[in-house]
Amino acid sequence: MSSNLLEALGRIEHEGKDAIERASAAEELEKARVEWVGRKGRLTTILRELGGLSPEDRRLVGAEANRVKEVLNAILEGREAALLGNQGGGEQIDLTLPGRARWRGVVHPVTRVVDEICEIFQGLGFARVAGPEVETVEYNFTRLNTPLDHPAADMHDTFYLADGVVLRTHTSPVQARVMEQFKPPVRVIVPGTVYRRDPFDASHAPAFEQLEGLAVDEGITFVDLKATIAEFARRFFGPETRTRFRPSFFPFTEPSAEVDVSCQICNGAGCGACKRTGWMEIMGAGMVDPAVFEAAGYDPERYTGFAFGMGPARIAMQRYRIRDIRMLYENDVRFLEQFEP
Ligand code: PHE
Repeated sequence: MSSNLLEALGRIEHEGKDAIERASAAEELEKARVEWVGRKGRLTTILRELGGLSPEDRRLVGAEANRVKEVLNAILEGREAALLGNQGGGEQIDLTLPGRARWRGVVHPVTRVVDEICEIFQGLGFARVAGPEVETVEYNFTRLNTPLDHPAADMHDTFYLADGVVLRTHTSPVQARVMEQFKPPVRVIVPGTVYRRDPFDASHAPAFEQLEGLAVDEGITFVDLKATIAEFARRFFGPETRTRFRPSFFPFTEPSAEVDVSCQICNGAGCGACKRTGWMEIMGAGMVDPAVFEAAGYDPERYTGFAFGMGPARIAMQRYRIRDIRMLYENDVRFLEQFEP
């Protein structure tokens, strides 16, 4: 007797579940509720028969009937919520809410400056090339006429990875690599990261970008260097920009110069940004030292050339009025997203 009833309960659980889940409208769901768990429903019929059972069977079947009732009621509730939702009751989707804007990346200000400068030099006939960041002492120093015991090597004498292998301290070794591979005339512009024994403070970083330029041909003079740099400065900073060369020293150029442009903020009048000088330093430059040509296998009697090296991070700082170079390396989205895509 009890086993029949238990079997019947099993069927009610199965078929009732099916019927409830199939209901695709509120009326259908109500019909299922009445049929399976209603007061005159299928489950109630079973409960009516409990009276004729032994106390033991009654407990058994009664407990199972309650369990099935709870299961079916739970499914009913879930189905009800789902159907109401579809009809616009309960949880709703507000189609008039504005959408979430897609997050859009921007080009890093230093990358942007690097690209713009390269484009200008490409327009002047220079090819954009790259070289290795892990360099040998040979290319980083020796080929550039810089013996390691020369005082000029001191501030570059820095991150060694192995004997004779160093993280390059400037992009100048690419000059030697290019000359080794190509015969003159050569004109290259070389962006890249360099590494130095520098502190990480408002105006220094131990790893930063450089842009190297090199032009070699017959008959190149200091006038070509000056004219090229002045033209670059006018195209990059603006047509009114003036350029000034100050004597300097680099082991791989002779003569050498530091190049300044008229301060972009005060237009040369003198302000806080240019320390009242009216000028801002943008690069080191000079005529390629004959010793560098010799090391590269170029005939120094036949060829002359100029080279320059600038720091795009410093240039980006001037252009965008960034006070602390560290902001360029922190990857803080609140800072970076201020730049135009
Ligand atoms: N390599 C030099 C530096 O890192 C810059 C430079 C490049 C100077 C080319 C002259 C010519 O300071």
